[in-house]
Amino acid sequence: MLTPTARGPLSVCVLESLRTGDTSRAADAPDAGSPEDAQITLWALYEQHYRGFEDVAGDLEWDPQLIAVRRRLEQDFERELRARTPRVPEPGNFAEDFFAFVADHDGPSLAAHIHRSASDDQVREFLRHKSIYHLKESDHTTWVIPRLSDTVKAAVMELQYDEYGGGNPHRLHAHLFAQGLAASGLSAEYGAYIDEVPVEVLEQNNVMSLFGLNRRLRAASLGFLAAFEATSSSPSRKIAGGLERLGFPAEMVEYYTEHVEADAVHEQLAVRTICGALLAEEPSLHEDVFFGAWTSLDQDDRYAQRMLGAWTS
Ligand SMILES: [Fe+2]
Ligand SMILES: [Fe+2]
Repeated sequence: MLTPTARGPLSVCVLESLRTGDTSRAADAPDAGSPEDAQITLWALYEQHYRGFEDVAGDLEWDPQLIAVRRRLEQDFERELRARTPRVPEPGNFAEDFFAFVADHDGPSLAAHIHRSASDDQVREFLRHKSIYHLKESDHTTWVIPRLSDTVKAAVMELQYDEYGGGNPHRLHAHLFAQGLAASGLSAEYGAYIDEVPVEVLEQNNVMSLFGLNRRLRAASLGFLAAFEATSSSPSRKIAGGLERLGFPAEMVEYYTEHVEADAVHEQLAVRTICGALLAEEPSLHEDVFFGAWTSLDQDDRYAQRMLGAWTS
């Protein structure tokens, strides 16, 4: 993958620093001109810790000037995310409270639209947007693993083992999505569609990296994971139905049908065994688990609102 197109003065400066290797200019980088400008910059800086860019030297991953820009953007972003979060339930029966918190959340459903009435073009746009995450599906959770106790770590590994195909490279969820894209005539190349994704997609991806790459946010990362898994099974069924209705190839449908069953298991594992065990050991992380969970739900809503708005206006 090559570096993305800039979306404002900050990303012009930082992407130029990345490409040229002259990071001195990042030291006095201008403020972001818009949320999009901030988010594409943060996304590119995070990408250095995943697969990176062909046009950026590998030793810039830990460049102090770039890390300083990343820190500034992360601090603003986290402040914003916390400001959006409502009051969370008081500590009580965690699993029960968590499932109720997710069930009581009422947001717009993109899956329902895809199931019943989305056009072929709309679904293709949706798949291109989703490719940014699904082609590195679950990687953000892997960052958290060394930061956990044995009990929680073992449970996260059980879930990740599944996401990573149980030892079979052809069963990796990221690989299943890539197969679906290719069969649908879309590019399965990692990051191919980054320049066309709206700010909501960038935010959603950046949240996962923010939580995954900062040890102090490990509870938010696992709360995010739990809410993500707990809101995946039934929408996956609807999306699979929509894909079938529109005649998408079996490979694309299969990615979603795989998640109907897998995530019904994953939600129990993530809520009860992962977050439950984490909070039994560290009860002070209660609020952050719900902060992460809320963020997952809210990010989904924001993307759904944006797309339903665009498609139905
Ligand atoms: Fe998955
Ligand atoms: Fe899952």
